[in-house]
Amino acid sequence: MSTAALPTHDVTDLGLAAEGRRRIEWAEREMPVLRLIRERFASEQPLAGLRIGACLHVTTETANLMRTLKAGGADVVLAASNPLSTKDDVAAALVAEYGIAVYARRGEDRDTYYAHLDAVADTHPHLTMDDGCDLVSLIHSQRPAQVAEVLAGTEETTTGVVRLNAMAADGALGFPVIAVNEAQTKHLFDNRYGTGQSTLDGILRATNILIAGRRVVVAGYGWVGKGITSRFRGHGAHVAVVEIDPVRALEALMDGFEVMTVGQAAPWGEVFITATGNINVFRREHFVAMRDGAILANSGHFDAELDLVALRELAEGHVREVRDNVQEFDLGPKRLNLIAEGRLVNLGAAEGHPAAVMDMSFANQALCAEYVARHHAELERKVHVVPEAIDAEVARLKLAALGITLDPMTEEQLRYVSSWQSGT
Ligand SMILES: NC(=O)c1ccc[n+]([C@@H]2O[C@H](COP(=O)([O-])OP(=O)(O)OC[C@H]3O[C@@H](n4cnc5c(N)ncnc54)[C@H](O)[C@@H]3O)[C@@H](O)[C@H]2O)c1
Repeated sequence: MSTAALPTHDVTDLGLAAEGRRRIEWAEREMPVLRLIRERFASEQPLAGLRIGACLHVTTETANLMRTLKAGGADVVLAASNPLSTKDDVAAALVAEYGIAVYARRGEDRDTYYAHLDAVADTHPHLTMDDGCDLVSLIHSQRPAQVAEVLAGTEETTTGVVRLNAMAADGALGFPVIAVNEAQTKHLFDNRYGTGQSTLDGILRATNILIAGRRVVVAGYGWVGKGITSRFRGHGAHVAVVEIDPVRALEALMDGFEVMTVGQAAPWGEVFITATGNINVFRREHFVAMRDGAILANSGHFDAELDLVALRELAEGHVREVRDNVQEFDLGPKRLNLIAEGRLVNLGAAEGHPAAVMDMSFANQALCAEYVARHHAELERKVHVVPEAIDAEVARLKLAALGITLDPMTEEQLRYVSSWQSGT
């Protein structure tokens, strides 16, 4: 493709496109459900005539989702949903190899991040596809006249769904949004196994520490926290959980983890990982109580879970990069190591979730885009769950792709489970 024929873009280096394509094709091998959907979309064109504005992590898996939406007839434009998660080779390949408009540069500053979101909004999307609600929030707060142009949206992650629910409760949400995160085939697998594995991967790539025998503190025992704790335990760590919800805390305890307050965990732990969707979980008093050499990482959506302002103040400018993606904060009596600037460690220091799990998350995204394209006029302006039929279809297709079949119930079993007469 000549440069003149390329879609509009702002990426780091188009010269990386060939490498990006190789990696996108590698990920595609692990995404059979999305591939099937792409083949159907190519013949049925369910998204024809629609402009989709996407704000997602620019990874190899996202590239395969973008290809699927394009195959379905949509005009797609993509910006990054995090300044540090962009894979520059993928961004280049999407533009130069697949003809998709992309605005994303790894390490972009805050102004560029928002300029890129603006570039997406400038295309006047009919559908929004968010990971964290930044695009929906920008359109509502900065471009109210454009709200009416948006038919519907989809949202990928827990934090985005929390923000959307807050908008809906305020009567501020101007179009319907499907909470893709709430699909069982999304959060049970992506949040748990995807984030569990890739968080471990990010911390290992950044530090290369031995996990066996190490004391690891995980804040939040939601889907993400469950995945992280189980993966670190699997590598031989002693794992403690910090929670605020009594049910989740009990669950962690009975799953075999220590449960502590943040204050108890601070001097105990050697590695601290947040996954709460909340702010300032570890704060000044906790940093002061931590051991020399403690490692800090965040796997929640925003870089707000560690009080980075307090950490910087405590270090009084004594901050240096000791390895790629590791900053050492020298507090005088001790040094604390922050990974990936406190942003999503699995995307900042590794490649994000494995493709096999994003296959299901993005199959939900693609099928939800098709669903809202057909049904937006019937949908109220609120946050909607993913239709059960889509969730079931994604699970069915994934099992089929893995060559696994299930037994149907026998006639007798069907009668038994639908009758109220039979007892002891
Ligand atoms: N890194 C990734 O790739 C990735 C993937 C999926 C989700 N996420 C993000 O991870 C975060 C968690 O997602 P989830 O699906 O596990 O959500 P969840 O709602 O299932 O779990 C969050 C847990 O954190 C607990 N919590 C809240 N405030 C706390 C505090 N101050 N101290 C201790 N615990 C606290 C809650 O009680 C809850 O149990 C969200 O921000 C989500 O968007 C990241």
